[in-house]
Amino acid sequence: AADIADQLSTVLVTEEEIQKKLLELAQRVDAEYEGKDLLLVGVLKGAVMVMADFARHLQRDITMDWMAVSSYGAGTKSSGVVQIRKDLDTDLHGKHVLIVEDIIDSGLTLSWLLENFQSRGAESIEVLALLRKPDAAKVVIDCRYVGFDIPNEFVVGYGLDYAERFRNLRDVAVLAPHVYS
Ligand code: PRP
Ligand code: MN
Ligand code: MG
Repeated sequence: AADIADQLSTVLVTEEEIQKKLLELAQRVDAEYEGKDLLLVGVLKGAVMVMADFARHLQRDITMDWMAVSSYGAGTKSSGVVQIRKDLDTDLHGKHVLIVEDIIDSGLTLSWLLENFQSRGAESIEVLALLRKPDAAKVVIDCRYVGFDIPNEFVVGYGLDYAERFRNLRDVAVLAPHVYS
């Protein structure tokens, strides 16, 4: 568990690439939500790093809330069963909501969340995801702000975990198969 480098195969997205992309996305969001109140909703725990950096690239004021859902548990595959572990503190009625996610994998988590949020009367709901795996999609998510499309491999770092580990890596990297097989 000590030496991180032995447990990764390749770096897919570097810290520098992540920050550059988040700045670009923040500039788009600044422009596209001009004159509107904006509520960012981070999906715990994976979105913590994206939220922290993306929100600080914005030039505007926002409000922030968090929802904790989990579908992966300790495995490497989505169970498809989404559980709410912590609900929002905010009433979404009339709000412009931007859901902030680290990754769209099968799409099941966001598909469930979007439906759940729509029923709460938000004025608008859009999605920002740092990563997306097109080849893993079981349901297609309409995601307005996408950072990077990546291959269908198990990735960790920058918020993404394997059994709760590796979230603190600054890059996004492919987990070495020997770690989970
Ligand atoms: C991961 C990731 C996304 C979701 C994407 O969360 O952070 O939220 O899975 O997978 P999907 O598109 O196949 O649904 P996870 O359930 O592992 O919880 P975590 O954020 O606490 O790690
Ligand atoms: Mn998550
Ligand atoms: Mg996880």
